[in-house]
Amino acid sequence: MVLSSLRPVATRHLPRAMALSTRTTVRTPAAFAQARRGFATEAPKKSGNNVLLFLGLAALGGAGGYYYHNSNQSVKKAEIVQEKTKSVDYNQVYKEIAELLEENPDYDDGSYGPVLVRLAWHASGTYDKDTKTGGSNGATMRFDPEATHGANNGLKIARDILEKIHAKHPDISYGDLWTLAGVCAIQELGGPKIPWRPGRQDAMTAEHCTPDGRLPDATKKEDHVRDVFYRMGFDDQEIVALAGAHALGRCHPDRSGFDGPWQEAPTMFSNEYFKALSERTWIKKKLPNGGWQYVDKNNDMVMMLPIELDMWNDKSFRKYIQLYAKDQDKFYEDFTKAFKKLIELGVPFKGDEKEYVFETINQ
Ligand code: HEM
Repeated sequence: MVLSSLRPVATRHLPRAMALSTRTTVRTPAAFAQARRGFATEAPKKSGNNVLLFLGLAALGGAGGYYYHNSNQSVKKAEIVQEKTKSVDYNQVYKEIAELLEENPDYDDGSYGPVLVRLAWHASGTYDKDTKTGGSNGATMRFDPEATHGANNGLKIARDILEKIHAKHPDISYGDLWTLAGVCAIQELGGPKIPWRPGRQDAMTAEHCTPDGRLPDATKKEDHVRDVFYRMGFDDQEIVALAGAHALGRCHPDRSGFDGPWQEAPTMFSNEYFKALSERTWIKKKLPNGGWQYVDKNNDMVMMLPIELDMWNDKSFRKYIQLYAKDQDKFYEDFTKAFKKLIELGVPFKGDEKEYVFETINQ
């Protein structure tokens, strides 16, 4: 089923010099305690230095207080500590992710991009606006049970690839790394520029894993899609725009049980998913595992999930599917806003983070 003949040819040039950075790092509770102990014992008792001591403690208290107040209520201060001391060169991180996308030509259709987009989405798509839990802050998919939730099958591949980058840039949080990788993959595969900000902080225990069942189940109906995405705070137009990411990648029998890409060019971001959904004739096909999916009557190598034809048959969803099938620019504009919103759900931004618009590596 590998569409190797359809792989785009990589024509990459050396990237431009990239020099921007911010001054954010994540430290473990032990490192934080160490820093705090050091300061307390070393601070001398002279009055001038007492002022410094007071300011220093106020700053530490302020940072902790900030975190406790602004993050998801359930994530405790003791478990995550962020301090503005070191810098992460996010442009360099972007460049390194972009360079590894095609490092294994035997993987799927020749790019790790699609599975990285899925990682960014599954890390973020657990958000619940009412309880303010889930989302990319915390990167709780590092822990069981979330790592082994059925919906996350196959995403260990994506997490493992990014470990190499994390080893070289240990001060980036996993939540920032995973979402930046999603942005990078979309851009490098021809999608729109998606502005990205750092600010996610890592949970240090499994305690904050979200319950199973927060991500969509492809065998259910369009009402289920609404339940899942309304819970995050999206409307019908945003749901359809986000689903356009299925222009990328494919289903794997050993991950979701479904099989095949949504259209013939699965490593190129485009509005082709909407064209396929609205212009082709989809027929049901039984799968060896007992399930079923839709396939294109004229090319049974390409597929649609049961829930996607239900979305097509829903008047409100169909309106946007047809709009994006006709107008790729409008799709890119709406996808950019919706994907940025998705990866920022529940993130405790302070408001002064630099927003990056990364250059693609062959720009
Ligand atoms: C209606 C909601 C959605 C459903 C039911 C759904 C379901 C699925 C399923 C069953 C797969 C196949 C997994 C596998 O076998 O490897 C998949 C893959 C994928 N999904 Fe979704 N998805 C939804 C929404 C989204 C959204 C919102 C995004 C991103 C914005 C997204 C991005 C992707 C990508 C890029 C892949 C390909 C992964 C790869 O090639 O490894 N999906 N999705």
